[in-house]
Amino acid sequence: MSKYTVSNASLSDLPAFTACQFRAFANGPLHAIIFPNPTDAKERHTKAIVDDGDEVVFLKATDNSTGDIVGGIKWCFYRRGYNYTTSTARPSPESYSTENGAYRQDVLNAVVQKRVEMVNGPHALLDLLFTDPDHQHQGIGSELVHWGCGEADRTNMTAIVEASPAGRRMYEKHGFVVHEFSNLKLEQWTDKPLLPQYFMVRQSKPR
Ligand SMILES: CC(C)(COP(=O)(O)OP(=O)(O)OC[C@H]1O[C@@H](n2cnc3c(N)ncnc32)[C@H](O)[C@@H]1OP(=O)(O)O)[C@@H](O)C(=O)NCCC(=O)NCCS
Repeated sequence: MSKYTVSNASLSDLPAFTACQFRAFANGPLHAIIFPNPTDAKERHTKAIVDDGDEVVFLKATDNSTGDIVGGIKWCFYRRGYNYTTSTARPSPESYSTENGAYRQDVLNAVVQKRVEMVNGPHALLDLLFTDPDHQHQGIGSELVHWGCGEADRTNMTAIVEASPAGRRMYEKHGFVVHEFSNLKLEQWTDKPLLPQYFMVRQSKPR
């Protein structure tokens, strides 16, 4: 990792952070539903840092030779637990105004329902992870996951993540196990594509 430096991402990093996120997830069907566009994503990241900065950590990986952000992660450390059922995914009012908005909300609700089934009480949520395609397979993703797992162990918290088929192996290497697989096929949306996801849990390890 000497080519890269991992550090906290702040509000001023969000334009580059989000641009990298969208380069990495260019072919991610669930990501496209959760984050319809970079502007929406940047607004939600900004809100998370401003409103929930004591529980939410954004890390960036920076290329030492260019200074560019080439990877990132969002970890949420819910020390007092998190009421997913009432907070859900914080839909915007316009979510309901279009068919896509309604579908998006139903998918978000299905994901949140799985989180409720996986964990109760204090826990860490790995909410977002990406590495720029030009910088993958060099250990950036692993480093970002490793940091949060260390925090979860230090504070004795179970961690959860929703993994795409591409991400599953990486999480298993860090101690996550598959709790459930789902294609997130919602019966009210028969025409929509499958969204294969592994819902994974990691028990904290004694230090
Ligand atoms: C999943 C993702 C974050 C992984 O990021 P990454 O920085 O490539 O991750 P790593 O480099 O730590 O590990 C990836 C692989 O490279 C290997 N690797 C790590 N360092 C290496 C090195 N120096 N040389 C060669 N291979 C290396 C790892 O062993 C791992 O192998 P595996 O896939 O066989 O398990 C990245 O592929 C990505 O952004 N994908 C699109 C978005 C996405 O799917 N995010 C996750 C959602 S669950």
